[in-house]
Amino acid sequence: MIRPILLHPDPRLKKSCAVVPDLTDELRTLADDMLQTMYDAPGVGLAAPQVGILQRLIVLDCVKEEGEIARPLIMFNPEVIASSDELNVYEEGCLSIPEHFADVTRPALVQVRWMDRDGQEQSEEMDGLWATCVQHEIDHLEGKLFIDHIKPLRRQMITRKMVKLKRELARG
Ligand code: NI
Repeated sequence: MIRPILLHPDPRLKKSCAVVPDLTDELRTLADDMLQTMYDAPGVGLAAPQVGILQRLIVLDCVKEEGEIARPLIMFNPEVIASSDELNVYEEGCLSIPEHFADVTRPALVQVRWMDRDGQEQSEEMDGLWATCVQHEIDHLEGKLFIDHIKPLRRQMITRKMVKLKRELARG
């Protein structure tokens, strides 16, 4: 099921999310819905708060090349356990802030630990777009958006435009 994606500004996008203690069928369904919602958008990552659920769950698939095999990842309680000193700049966007993009600097390489759909602990070193994306999504679980990494003036400008967009959408 495709779920509606919350648009910035929304108080639910500013909250710190709760740890998932135990996997339930409801949470697995939510994760599957989130992947479907992400692919439909289309996007390369989605965090549970973006569909209004304040729990530590993200999904991602950064395989973008045509003809390459998809690699959907479902991550409960994802954590960056180590990151490189080397930095990487990537022009980021967000499904909750459509049509706005900005350069964000983050560690180029991260070691990430999470619990998968079967409740198994997983760990992986990620680089490139995967590293950017997983850090962006984990930020969402702390109520942090990519625009919180950019200059305040630019952030305020984007937020003002989003307020206007939401007003127009509400009017229909
Ligand atoms: Ni995002």
